[in-house]
Amino acid sequence: MGSTVAIVLFLAAFVSSGHSLQCMQCTGFSDTPCTGSLRDCPSISDVCGTMVIRTRGHRWTSFNYIRSCVNISECSNNASVTGLYTTTATATTCCFTNNCTTSIPILPVENYTLNGLACPSYVETLMEPCDIKNVSACTGDQIRCVRYSASTTLGSTSSDLFFGGCATENTCAVESSSIKGDGISVEIKRKCYNGAGSLDSGPMFYSLPVILGLLKFVFAM
Ligand SMILES: *[C@@H]1O[C@H](CO)[C@@H](O)[C@H](O)[C@H]1NC(C)=O
Ligand SMILES: *[C@@H]1O[C@H](CO)[C@@H](O)[C@H](O)[C@H]1NC(C)=O
Ligand SMILES: *[C@@H]1O[C@H](CO)[C@@H](O)[C@H](O)[C@H]1NC(C)=O
Ligand SMILES: *[C@@H]1O[C@H](CO)[C@@H](O)[C@H](O)[C@H]1NC(C)=O
Ligand SMILES: *[C@@H]1O[C@H](CO)[C@@H](O)[C@H](O)[C@H]1NC(C)=O
Repeated sequence: MGSTVAIVLFLAAFVSSGHSLQCMQCTGFSDTPCTGSLRDCPSISDVCGTMVIRTRGHRWTSFNYIRSCVNISECSNNASVTGLYTTTATATTCCFTNNCTTSIPILPVENYTLNGLACPSYVETLMEPCDIKNVSACTGDQIRCVRYSASTTLGSTSSDLFFGGCATENTCAVESSSIKGDGISVEIKRKCYNGAGSLDSGPMFYSLPVILGLLKFVFAM
């Protein structure tokens, strides 16, 4: 009872103050925490988030460690996506007070056992291909096909990225994403569907972390 009253008072104070949350903002290129300066979150539905992104190519692995304001719908999301040249895994954790520190995200367990599914696969920067020549063999619990488009603005340079491949069910849990950071902004659209040949069905989805892992193709990060 007492604690309920305390929570209500806390919420009342928090909401009526009209101040948005402040979160640490930084981007690191390893799997260890980064630090940066505090920023005001642009939206009332934002919380402080930490994303770890692991991207594996043929003979390389890279990490991004990102702390920023994220929409609350991104929290606790695990995803794994395999495309033409890369397999990307992401995990996100959140916390809810000014300058809070989240727990360190734990990436989903890797499982490279083929599961018999295949998805149309591409990475393009101009437009979504209408004739997709390649497929990716899906592994582990990647039971969906996915297609993304992302618009990224870095400084004054804008570019698009189109990507298709295999995805875990979790990849499709988040419906919308956009991030605005230090000179960078990313808007993502995503569509998940069940297997090759059904590119035109299914609802539109929007998501963020996988695209951040692929930014290296656009900006050679
Ligand atoms: C933020 O998350 C809320 C709650 O899940 C959702 O309703 C809203 O559409 C999201 N906003 C954006 C911009 O993604
Ligand atoms: C934010 O938290 C970090 C530790 O997580 C601390 O080093 C830093 O001084 C804090 N910043 C402000 C403005 O309180
Ligand atoms: C993400 O995956 C890790 C490792 O498999 C697991 O420990 C964690 O609970 C998962 N998180 C969610 C929200 O599913
Ligand atoms: C994609 O398909 C084309 C045409 O079949 C082939 O030449 C190319 O090697 C494939 N690319 C990859 C990465 O598998
Ligand atoms: C890995 O994926 C395969 C194919 O989906 C599945 O049969 C197997 O149980 C998975 N292994 C683990 C350890 O989850």
